[in-house]
This record gives sequence, structure tokens and C-alpha cells, in this order.
Amino acid sequence: MQPSFWHEKWDAQQIGFHLSAVNPLLVQYWPQLQLAADSQVFVPLCGKSLDMCFLAEQGHGVIACELNDLAVSQFYQENNLPYSVDKVDEHQRYQTEQITIYQGDIFTLNRLDMENVSAFYDRAALIAWPDAMRLNYAKQLANLIPAGSVGLLITLDYPQSELNGPPFAVSDDWVMANMSDNFEIERLATNDVLSDNPRFIKKQVSSLTESVYKLTRRG
Ligand SMILES: C[S@@+](CC[C@H](N)C(=O)[O-])C[C@H]1O[C@@H](n2cnc3c(N)ncnc32)[C@H](O)[C@@H]1O
Repeated sequence: MQPSFWHEKWDAQQIGFHLSAVNPLLVQYWPQLQLAADSQVFVPLCGKSLDMCFLAEQGHGVIACELNDLAVSQFYQENNLPYSVDKVDEHQRYQTEQITIYQGDIFTLNRLDMENVSAFYDRAALIAWPDAMRLNYAKQLANLIPAGSVGLLITLDYPQSELNGPPFAVSDDWVMANMSDNFEIERLATNDVLSDNPRFIKKQVSSLTESVYKLTRRG
């Protein structure tokens, strides 16, 4: 999607993707990564996700990236986190003790800022891209994170012809075919989530599954 699409969504606060609680899949599957508490975790396309608070509560440092400045300031304000802002190259860097968000385009992020990262968490980031742009994003994710980094990827899959994204359908085949060069991939779960998603039911989407993958950046 073009940046203007997301800026308009944030301006209108049409943010149906935002969850008012920590994602239960993160809580359930994060321990499987067996990370040291002081690991640094990269959260691409973070929005104002409370999942960043969960990661910080585990002791992790969070380094995130988000295009929209309102999303970033809302994150800090709504969680009562005092923050400072400075400019680093093309990005505004918002910082509190454990959570740093680079506000700007993920494609201009500097991989040197990621050199201490050893983990990542992608929820509603890969699936935010239409087919034509998804591979570029997956390559940029791989480019940014150091070899050996482990992470969780959460995807949705449904018949794309039945509904326009975002979120876009990402099949198991797509993940395996397009991400295996850069990542070792282990699918941890696939759940039928149609009944939990009224928007999909209303549009008569015939099936909806959510998958969780453990990815390890190849070295
Ligand atoms: C579907 S939302 C998901 C947000 C978050 N991961 C969550 O779970 O709530 C996708 C987010 O990606 C941001 N975004 C879109 N394009 C981006 C880009 N090129 N660089 C950084 N962030 C981007 C949007 O502003 C939006 O907040």
C-alpha cells in the first residue's frame, strides 16, 4: 500500500487492525523462542500495538518502525510513557527506556540501528502488503535483521477473490516459496478464526485461517 493509504487510515482513526489487548498468540508462542530477557526485538510496522509493552515486560528492548507519527505519539501517550524525540537520518526516533520507535519508512531504515537485534515479531506487517509489494518487504525484513535472529510471524489466509485487503491473504505456500532463502521456517500453528472475525463473516468470506511461524534468519 502507498503511504497515503495508511496516513489516511490513522487520520480517520480507522484502525480495525489495532487490538485493545496483547495478542494471545504472542503470549502463547513467544516463550518457544527461548530468548534471553535482555534480547533486543525488532517490531516492523508496529502501529501502536500493545504487543510492544508485552515484549518490554519480558525484559526485552524493543526497536520498532512505524510510518505514521500519530500512531507513534498515541502509543507513548496512551501507555503513559514519557518519551524523547530526535532525528536520525530519515527517521524521527522516539525513545523511552525500553522502547524505541523509528517513525518513517521501513525501506529507508538503517541496518546499523539493528545490529544488536536478535529477535523480531511480525504481526499484521507481512499481511499489510499486497502481493506485488510483499516480497520487497520480506527481503527488507531479512536485510535489516542480523543472521541468527529468531522471530514470530503471524499470517492470515482466505480466498483473496472474496475480499479486498488489507489484510491480504498470505498462504503457507507463499511463505515457504518466498521466505525460505533467507529464513528457516517452522509452522507452529494454524487455526480457523472465521468465527472471531465479523468483517469476514459479513462479507461472506468462506474460510479464514491464522498461522504462526517461527522464523530463524539464515546466516
Ligand atoms: C495493519 S497495521 C499493523 C500495525 C501493528 N503491527 C499491529 O499489529 O497493530 C500496518 C502498519 O504499518 C504501517 N506502515 C505501512 N507502511 C509502512 C512503511 N513503509 N514503513 C513503516 N510502517 C509502515 C502503517 O502505518 C500501519 O500502522
